Amino acid sequence: MIRKRFLSAVFVLIALVGPVLAFAGDDVVETGRLLAILLDAGRGAVAANQPLINDANKGDKGFTPDVFAKQLAEKFKARANVDLGNLKGSGVPELAQKLLPELVEAAKQTVANNQDTINKAGVAYKGFTPAHFGTQTASLFSAKSKIYMKQTTTDELLRNPKNKADAFESGMMKKFGESGYPRQGDKIGSETVGGDVRVMLPLFYGKGCLGCHGGPKGETDVSGYKKEGAKEGDLGGAVSVKLPAK
Ligand code: HEC
Repeated sequence: MIRKRFLSAVFVLIALVGPVLAFAGDDVVETGRLLAILLDAGRGAVAANQPLINDANKGDKGFTPDVFAKQLAEKFKARANVDLGNLKGSGVPELAQKLLPELVEAAKQTVANNQDTINKAGVAYKGFTPAHFGTQTASLFSAKSKIYMKQTTTDELLRNPKNKADAFESGMMKKFGESGYPRQGDKIGSETVGGDVRVMLPLFYGKGCLGCHGGPKGETDVSGYKKEGAKEGDLGGAVSVKLPAK
């Protein structure tokens, strides 16, 4: 009898605490997912303005941090269904409410830091692409927030050594590269490793990527790197985030 009561008390406790614990972990994963999508939405906003940025006949492009931030918010809303202008009422985890604005600030800072480059007249390719935006923004965000974030890829595709994958990232890239892995829908991979929650968002090459990452393999692209010979839908890399599991 006592044993039975004790057991039911334990069950009640598990029933009460279990979801709270699960929820706490889910919150961290969800925060990582949103941060990764936000970085990629910023890459998309830069990509959408690449013809403008690369216009050699134009000086001032009007692609200011504020203009960029508005487009970033639109792209993020479309993909994550979260309104950056109203995070409190959005139902996203508290951790995300704190970190998403910090990533927006880092992204705007990157666009601000590159204004001279962007507004240069007389040159088309200026070395400011979604990848440059992503690498610089992730590094600014990490320095300020102490949250690890980077763009990464497998060694065969690696251009910037700063983006080299660690063991966890290489393993997840293998999974992302499997033919059955969904190419659409921002399906993340995540795992708790030691005291960290690791979250990765795969980046698949679209048509717009192939001018640099497509064929013919080995030919030099406009950015001065050797093309990888990739095809549309191939895995290009991932955004990787690491948050304390708490
Ligand atoms: C104008 C040429 C160009 C285009 C277009 C382009 N990239 Fe890249 N990509 C680069 C360059 C240059 C780097 C290295 C950037 C750096 O130094 O951080 C890079 C780096 C990357 C990285 C980081 C890993 C690494 O190798 O350093 C990923 C992932 C990536 N690109 C994926 C893509 C995807 C996906 C697209 C299309 C949505 C795309 N790229 C479009 C030139 C390009």
